Amino acid sequence: MKHEIKVNKTNSSRINEVDFNNLQFGKEFSDHMFTAEYSNGVWSNFQIEPMRPIEFHPATSAFHYGQAIFEGLKAQKDKEGNILVFRPDMNAKRMDISAERMGMPALPEGLFIEAIDELLKIDSTWVPTNENASLYIRPFMIATDNYVGIRESENYKFIIFTCPVGAYYSAPVNVYVSEEYIRAFPGGVGFAKCAGNYAASLYPLRFAKQEGYDQILWLDGIEKKYFQECGTMNVFFIIDNILITPPLDEGTILAGITRDSVIILAKEMGIPVEERKISVAEFIQAHKENRVQDVFGAGTAATIVSINIIGYRDVKYQIPALETRTISTAIKNQLNQIKYGEVADNKHWMMKVKVAQNLEV
Ligand code: COI
Repeated sequence: MKHEIKVNKTNSSRINEVDFNNLQFGKEFSDHMFTAEYSNGVWSNFQIEPMRPIEFHPATSAFHYGQAIFEGLKAQKDKEGNILVFRPDMNAKRMDISAERMGMPALPEGLFIEAIDELLKIDSTWVPTNENASLYIRPFMIATDNYVGIRESENYKFIIFTCPVGAYYSAPVNVYVSEEYIRAFPGGVGFAKCAGNYAASLYPLRFAKQEGYDQILWLDGIEKKYFQECGTMNVFFIIDNILITPPLDEGTILAGITRDSVIILAKEMGIPVEERKISVAEFIQAHKENRVQDVFGAGTAATIVSINIIGYRDVKYQIPALETRTISTAIKNQLNQIKYGEVADNKHWMMKVKVAQNLEV
């Protein structure tokens, strides 16, 4: 089904104000955004319009009770200048999963991808061509009832904006294992990409940062023994040449699309993969016996980023030198080659945006 999307283009592009050679993450915004509204049980008013601040009533329920979900995906250009979006179907599915858990409406079938396709056609010149840069795409949905009682909102907004970005992490990261603060527990909202899951990391991170850490590494909420994920990405361990990552079955971990891609590529490369619980005790024992070969994070914004130190209580566990981390380097290279169209896309992961010349701003 094709949805009708009205287009109102800006007549003053800001693209020349942006230094594409020095892109930071999430600070520059392209010219347009997509917006849609939900009321009376129906999504309507699909528009692409100039990027601008939006006014909201102070009683807008998303601000108070957190019915707010989002996605993150990236587009790159290949050598011929084609725009390639990485696995948008996965983000569309996850958005609906998050929406259901947070009592929010599903999007109309196909709209998520059509809206991204149309938006990227219009802002095609904003997709960076520099090495390791991408256009980060941020779809989100918020409850917009002006009502102070707790109930499922009757009105919502769905918006997509985009940002040309460089690396989220420009160096390997140090993570601190939080015992005092917990992100998710079975039956909670850990698997949903909802705003509150990210807000929850900020207070513990304040203290971790004072000790030189970049992120929190969360533990399970029941036994406080098993690793879950980091504040911005899923986590992988390589111990005895086996790639190990915490499983999704308890609903406490975000089903990362980079996580899924890493697992698929590793299996294709013949690397044994185990999706299973991994405890702090197992990690410490393996570290003591020099069997920990690698620890890395995987996420859309973060891509694949090496973890340098895991801090637990008062001990800093140093992970082996980057030069020795051949498995994660190979997976990262393979993933990048797929994203930038440098190898055949035999898994059909990339959506190509067909840009007509006269549509470019
Ligand atoms: C992403 O990786 O896309 C996220 O949403 C994580 C956020 C820290 C930027």
